[in-house]
Amino acid sequence: MPSKTFSSRTLNIAHRGARSLAPENTLAAARQALQIGADMWELDVGMTADGELVVVHDDTLERTSNVKAMFPNRQPWFVHEFTFEEIRRLDFGSWFNEQDPFKQIAAGALTQAETKNYVGERAPTLREALLFTRDNHWRVNVEIKDLSGRPGDASVVEKVASLIKELDMVDSALVSSFNHSYLERVKAVNPNLATGALVASPVADPAALLRRLNAQAYNPRVTAIRLQDIAVLRDHGFDVYVWTVNDKETMQALIEARVSGIFTDFPQTLREILNQ
Ligand code: G3P
Ligand code: CA
Repeated sequence: MPSKTFSSRTLNIAHRGARSLAPENTLAAARQALQIGADMWELDVGMTADGELVVVHDDTLERTSNVKAMFPNRQPWFVHEFTFEEIRRLDFGSWFNEQDPFKQIAAGALTQAETKNYVGERAPTLREALLFTRDNHWRVNVEIKDLSGRPGDASVVEKVASLIKELDMVDSALVSSFNHSYLERVKAVNPNLATGALVASPVADPAALLRRLNAQAYNPRVTAIRLQDIAVLRDHGFDVYVWTVNDKETMQALIEARVSGIFTDFPQTLREILNQ
């Protein structure tokens, strides 16, 4: 089974973009990650009421936009209950300046001009996010959010897979999901599209899981894998991409353990380590 490793060294994967430095899952975060020298970025994709693929992490819009102020009577503000035109009117940037979630504004890591630019930042469509990636000769991990029981469950995989193919990005994209049946559907639509199985807790036999899914990568939460198991999976020809690692010591240990890539909110920190 071919590995999807884009290189022999550990990849620096900006989790939801460089989200310590910019509002997550926006093109502003992607720009920061690109500038830092991340090897690729990770984004989350959901679906609007009218079937548009939109880059957003949560099931609801409340945490990362001004939806509460704009649509006070639409709680709990599910993504799938808003049209794309409605979501497009929302500000996905100001909350970052107000909350400074990783305290990087307070630390002086951002200029006033940068944070001012975040005001009014829009949620990108998946198409816009992919085009940004392609235009910059970059790579992306598209995580399909689990829409089980929601509108979009029946079509999200096919839409994502066909968009990646339409934009001729099969070789620069990795598709992941916690919903492993989605990964099987990806393969049914396009066997050439690489997939990664996301897991949040330890799995007894990861290689068997990957073989069953015909997946190329194992994407465990950092607490769900032992360092010594990484090399075993690599030797079986699988990639291992671990999330979400923000401290230097763990980054270093994973690199020494031959991890294929690390998802981090601080690609600037991982860049320094990888450059050493
Ligand atoms: O793909 C790694 C990571 O993004 C999975 O968890 O919740 O941050 O989307 P989450
Ligand atoms: Ca994700």
